[in-house]
Order: sequence, then C-alpha cells, then structure tokens
Amino acid sequence: IDFKIITNNGTHESMKMLIDLKNIFARQLPKMPKEYIVRLVFDRNHESMCIIKDNTKVIGGICYRKYPTQRFAEIAFLAITATLQVKGYGTRLMNKFKEHIQKQDVEYLLTYADNYAIGYFRKQGFYQEIKMQPDRWKGFIKDYDGGTLMECYVHPIIDYGN
Ligand code: ACO
Repeated sequence: IDFKIITNNGTHESMKMLIDLKNIFARQLPKMPKEYIVRLVFDRNHESMCIIKDNTKVIGGICYRKYPTQRFAEIAFLAITATLQVKGYGTRLMNKFKEHIQKQDVEYLLTYADNYAIGYFRKQGFYQEIKMQPDRWKGFIKDYDGGTLMECYVHPIIDYGN
C-alpha cells in the first residue's frame, strides 16, 4: 500500500489516477452530482491523496483544498472502493493525510460529512463543534445543505504516522 499526493499536472500517470479516484467518488457518493466531482478532482486548487495498491491500482482517496493564509484545509470527498471498506484503509488514509497536512502548516481540517459518514469522522477526531473563529473560514468554503460541518484540530507535534 502506498499513499501518493496527486495533482492535475497534465501527466498521463496523474490523469489516470485522478480518473480512477473520480470513479470511486462517483460510485461511493451517489448524491453528489458527477460533474461537480469531476470539476473539483481536476481543479488546480485541489489535490488528492490516493491509496494505491500493487503500485498502480487506486483503491480510495481524499480530495481536498488547502487555504494556506487561513491555515485550514477542506476535505471535499473521501471514499474507499466498496469491496475494501471497513478494513482499516479509511483510518490509515486519514492518518497519512494528517501527517502530510501537518507539514504544510495546516492547523484545522473542515469537512461536510454525509450523515452516513459522521461516525467515521468522529472516530478520526472530527467534531461538530467548530473551534475556528467564523471569520477564518466563512466565505472561504461554500455552505452545503446535504451535510454536517465537522472540524478536526491537527496538533502541530502529534506523530500521526505512528
Ligand atoms: N458509519 C459509522 N462508522 C463507520 C462508517 C460509517 N459510515 N464507516 C466506517 N466506520 C467505522 C468502522 O466501523 C471503523 O470503526 P472501528 O475503528 O471502531 O472498527 C472506523 O469507522 C474506521 O473504519 P475503516 O475501515 O478505517 O473505514 P473505511 O476504510 O471503510 O473508510 C469511509 C471509511 C471512507 C467512510 C468508507 O466507508 C467509504 O468510502 N464510504 C462510502 C463513501 C463515504 O461515505 N464517504 C464519506 C462521505 S463525506 C465526504 O466525502 C466529505
């Protein structure tokens, strides 16, 4: 298992992985319009951390956007392919992601969790109580009806890699 940060940099390899990840999101997040998923996954402001099995096969990932001046990042989409869910990959992915984002001087993560995924996010240290001051994040991320806003504090010295 490898974890790779993929951006839309025009290379064949990145394109292929982003397409595979987009297809996992589209299948696992059926309420999300497909065009919206495509737009964000290939948007230059967004990056994705992919979990890759056997060197080439994307089995899941996180698509996110950093707001460096505000020192937070928003998780737009997160999914693991259906046959490999509830085997611990989602937890490993989140730990790797925290380890990565911590090095980028990000202090908070925000996400609109599907009702179905609230339990997962809680286990990963996300809370419905938002500690960041509103002026730090409001207006930066869109309001979104279909989900519950959750926040996670990324401690600057905790070793999330363990
Ligand atoms: N509700 C409650 N608990 C859950 C859920 C859930 N939907 N999914 C996993 N868990 C629990 C597991 O039971 C496990 O608990 P444990 O540590 O006590 O054993 C823990 O969360 C972690 O489980 P993992 O095996 O690491 O999780 P998994 O690899 O299945 O990844 C994920 C979780 C990403 C939510 C996956 O199940 C998935 O892709 N689901 C469908 C798509 C989805 O809902 N994505 C999130 C939408 S919100 C958004 O994208 C911003």
